[in-house]
Amino acid sequence: MILSKAEIDQTLRHGPWPPEVVLDPSNRVSGDTTAISLGEVLFSDLMLSRDRTISCASCHDPEQNFTDGLPRAEGRKTLDRNTQALWNLAVQRWYGWSGDSDSLWAQNLTPLLNPDELGHDENSLRAALVASVHRPAYEALFGEMDAEPAVETTVNVSKVLAAYIETLRSGKTSFDQFRDALASGDMKKAAQYPLSAQRGLQIFVGRGNCAFCHSGPAFTNGEFHHAAVPFFLERGGVDPGRAEGIDRLMESPFTLAGEFSDDGSKAGAWAVRNVRFQHGNFGAFRVPTLRRAARTAPYMHDGSLRDLASVIQHYNQIDMERLHSDGEAILRPLGLSDQDAEDLEDFLRTLSDD
Ligand code: HEC
Ligand code: HEC
Repeated sequence: MILSKAEIDQTLRHGPWPPEVVLDPSNRVSGDTTAISLGEVLFSDLMLSRDRTISCASCHDPEQNFTDGLPRAEGRKTLDRNTQALWNLAVQRWYGWSGDSDSLWAQNLTPLLNPDELGHDENSLRAALVASVHRPAYEALFGEMDAEPAVETTVNVSKVLAAYIETLRSGKTSFDQFRDALASGDMKKAAQYPLSAQRGLQIFVGRGNCAFCHSGPAFTNGEFHHAAVPFFLERGGVDPGRAEGIDRLMESPFTLAGEFSDDGSKAGAWAVRNVRFQHGNFGAFRVPTLRRAARTAPYMHDGSLRDLASVIQHYNQIDMERLHSDGEAILRPLGLSDQDAEDLEDFLRTLSDD
């Protein structure tokens, strides 16, 4: 065993996996089997776009790990950001690269209503659903549609989609088998995990400091950081990242503190109520999960890095000029050798090999 006692302890913190299934109290159809099947069908139904040309699956292609393989998403025009894969979202607190929403269902409203994506408004979405074959399943869940305000229908469609997306969970990988073997003290089994991945893991939790942000079982702390990715946009201007996310959250009637949350206790609303703008939010993006990441290239909020090797080189030669505030104290050029970089990549691949 090349890992020290301290490194084993650090490794144990990245599990167990998979996490316990927890239903979303703000979504009354979370975990409901009718909602999950309706959500799955709607996800790929062209009816979700106003002109019936695209669906969620056009960008979040189930055959491509729920993303599109493009640097930046193609809607009615090229969007500013990379399409996020939809794995393991039930464990997140904030949604979108800049955390515009504090629930999965609220995040689903954005593509439905964005003119550059599916382009509906509340009335057109309601009309499409009323005229569709899905009406009976919808009414079985939410009751008679006739008197329902269009905003209610729109939120309910988002909740049905969320019930489906919540079920997208990645399974155990060879890393998890290694971690479980360490947890139970089975060193013989642990020794089956490739040595190169073990060396990469040592860099990840050690001098690479990756685990500072990519922490815990999902390899993300769920919060917003700078990773020295330029936030200038091609068409001029900047992507303010979390700074804009906070503005959107503050303006939204669809947060966990609002009337559309089904959780009467509003227990989950503490986070949104405590959000305060800080200068460091500017240009910060949500730390991505690294589970399944090996299959969802290209990388970063703007899709600017082609493959995992490029991401590792990005961190290895990090541009300190681009960093400010919190990132600066954590990230620095790593001085990895070619062998180190390969080991780190081998380790990252073991988070995706199920
Ligand atoms: C035109 C391409 C496109 C379409 C169509 C689209 N999305 Fe997305 N999706 C994106 C992009 C780009 C992001 C990143 C958004 C951001 O942070 O700005 C994203 C992010 C998300 C997220 C947040 C994931 C996370 O990790 O927080 C969810 C959930 C989501 N989309 C669900 C959906 C659903 C449901 C639909 C259909 C109603 C849909 N999307 C349609 C491109 C698309
Ligand atoms: C300061 C916090 C922080 C540290 C430390 C950190 N990361 Fe990241 N990582 C991020 C953030 C934030 C992003 C997204 C940045 C963006 O899109 O602008 C990211 C993106 C990534 C991605 C791309 C994932 C995707 O789906 O696009 C990979 C892979 C990654 N990091 C691996 C690593 C490795 C390996 C290390 C250690 C060498 C590391 N990170 C250190 C915060 C961090």
